Amino acid sequence: MDLQLRGTTALVTGAGSGIGRAVALALAAEGVRLALLDRDEAGLRETAELVNGEEERQDALMLVADVTDEAQVAAAVGAVDRLDAVVCCAGISGPVGSGIEDVTLAQWNAVLAVNVTGPFLVLKHALPALRAAGAASVVLISSDSAVVASPGMVPYCTSKAALVQFARALSVDLAGTGIRVNTVAPSVVDTPMSRGDLGDSAFDAPGFPVQSGDEVAAHVAYLASPRSRAVNGTTVLSDFGYSARSGFPA
Ligand SMILES: NC(=O)c1ccc[n+]([C@@H]2O[C@H](COP(=O)([O-])OP(=O)(O)OC[C@H]3O[C@@H](n4cnc5c(N)ncnc54)[C@H](O)[C@@H]3O)[C@@H](O)[C@H]2O)c1
Repeated sequence: MDLQLRGTTALVTGAGSGIGRAVALALAAEGVRLALLDRDEAGLRETAELVNGEEERQDALMLVADVTDEAQVAAAVGAVDRLDAVVCCAGISGPVGSGIEDVTLAQWNAVLAVNVTGPFLVLKHALPALRAAGAASVVLISSDSAVVASPGMVPYCTSKAALVQFARALSVDLAGTGIRVNTVAPSVVDTPMSRGDLGDSAFDAPGFPVQSGDEVAAHVAYLASPRSRAVNGTTVLSDFGYSARSGFPA
């Protein structure tokens, strides 16, 4: 299927690693010109080199910025005139395995700041460029943690559920503008983040289903594409059906 993305322009946040890098590569392979944003300049440079080495050679725009800092976001995103898609992947897991009595206010605030305030700031400042495209698509990377929870991840789960409703509410606010807003909510994806949280050995013979960044990127590419123009305000929950199973013992 031709996703009809060739010649379009997209901004990808969190592009310096994991899912953001996979999204950048998948979109580049579809002929999308990219603006790549991350606070990690070295990671960003590595992704830009990979993107520039793709068959469709291009000079991806590198934007070093922290998504929690409005001045940095405004300066970075303001450098782009037109955006057919914005994909927000920048995120942190925060404390994993801590009950809330052990979670500091600073840790709580950091998770909410990166995972929720970050997309708010990026989209607030990207709106003029999205409007300039006429029909545009926003894809936010949430998590299955928006609908199910593992113990010791209250800040992360809270932030990912907030992101789903942020997307839904924004899709309603932007109805009639041609700008769609959707989320992708994957379960465990093999990235530096999940390896950092679970340990490398957990991925040797995992007793849980693991997906790749490429697989998540395929959902993102579809949602970024005009092929999905009727899909708006919703979530692609890619969790191997885990959350569909009732506790009923049958
Ligand atoms: N890995 C998983 O299992 C998994 C599952 C579901 C959802 N997600 C979500 O996918 C997204 C990407 O995660 P990943 O697994 O690729 O993680 P990752 O750690 O590999 O990549 C995250 C990237 O975001 C960047 N980033 C973090 N804070 C930032 C900030 N304040 N400003 C700018 N950039 C910042 C990091 O520098 C990094 O390059 C996150 O939102 C994460 O919550 C991950």
